[in-house]
Amino acid sequence: MSKRELHDQYLFPNYAPMQIMPSHGKGARLWDTDGREYIDFAAGIAVSSLGHAHPALIDALYQQSKKYWHVSNLMTNEPAILLAKALVEATFAERVFFSNSGAEANEAALKLARRYAHDNFGPEKFEIIAFEDGFHGRTLFTVSVGGQAKYSDGFGPALEGITHLPFNDIAVLEAAISEKTCAIMVEPIQGESGVVPANVEFLKRARELCDQHNALLIFDEVQTGVMRTGELYAYIGLGVEPDILTSAKGLGGGMPIGATLSSQKIAQAFGVGVHGSTFGGNPLACAVANKVLELVNTPQMKVQVQARAMQLQGGLESLNNEFSLFAEIRGEGLLLGCVLSPEFAGRSRELLNLMMDQGVLALVAGDNVLRMAPPLVLEEQDVNEGLAAMTAAVKIFMAG
Ligand SMILES: Cc1ncc(COP(=O)(O)O)c(C=O)c1O
Repeated sequence: MSKRELHDQYLFPNYAPMQIMPSHGKGARLWDTDGREYIDFAAGIAVSSLGHAHPALIDALYQQSKKYWHVSNLMTNEPAILLAKALVEATFAERVFFSNSGAEANEAALKLARRYAHDNFGPEKFEIIAFEDGFHGRTLFTVSVGGQAKYSDGFGPALEGITHLPFNDIAVLEAAISEKTCAIMVEPIQGESGVVPANVEFLKRARELCDQHNALLIFDEVQTGVMRTGELYAYIGLGVEPDILTSAKGLGGGMPIGATLSSQKIAQAFGVGVHGSTFGGNPLACAVANKVLELVNTPQMKVQVQARAMQLQGGLESLNNEFSLFAEIRGEGLLLGCVLSPEFAGRSRELLNLMMDQGVLALVAGDNVLRMAPPLVLEEQDVNEGLAAMTAAVKIFMAG
């Protein structure tokens, strides 16, 4: 039995992993256990921001691993303090809560918004506005706030007080918000459901409406954060500041970490004992994330992301000029979604598998969108080779 088959024997059947298994990686390249090389345009779903086996991250992990691995929240620890300080200095925020994943960062954000409203405006103010097709994680609260029934159906009654509105519809939002609304939660670019950007006007209006109704604006930047769009966080480029921001994925460069950011005033709602996590603020994860942030939040990285994004987007557009495969190529920076033309609808996974056969790894976002979220550090040559492999796959796809 192959190792991959052992997966099916011993693990829960909730994933359908590819047939290949990784052996090791370097930068934007990954090798499988059969020795085949791949260009990685997936980065473990927008996580490996500095690619695989980055020497500075290995060193950060190693240095911390020799000191202590874990103290829980019984004690504070230097890597967590330094990371919180760096995040505060780089953003609108004044306080940070650490957890271990995007879902947990969002769970904390949602609980924080409800608790803040409860403490400041009373128990009636608990309603949350979220958006159709949004994705915020897989805890019960986050699937309830996420706008995709397939993730929340079958788990008993959904949490109360959550409304899902059409994305980017200002009039509907204006009509729905009320004094009972405690928060609006939104992704600046809906990642999982197809790389769909929010309109700036929509986000600006959401900001105004939150201010008018004493509601908090929560930006889920789990996927868009940590320079993926060419800004440290997408809100910076959009010019709309949230009250609460969540970050995970790329922040740890592959180490599990989540962060919930807010003002000091809002953070007060999490007094001693109100919320917590055994592993949140883990020194190993924070030591690595510190190094990620240091290397990512630089003018050079901004230029690098913009250059590779232009190259990748340009390459995808030329490929499309030749094959008319995509109806639209959208997204920002190194988070791109290629929407299949109607005649190829529903076949994104088939294309993904053909690309893998040709040596380039990517992602899908639903049945109709091929998604790219490569390491931020990918090189010009990686993009060229990845696009060449993709072209070979597209030829087979078109013939099939
Ligand atoms: C926008 C967004 N929020 C939350 C999550 C959940 O993150 P995690 O899988 O780390 O819990 C994801 C994951 O894809 C995401 O894209």
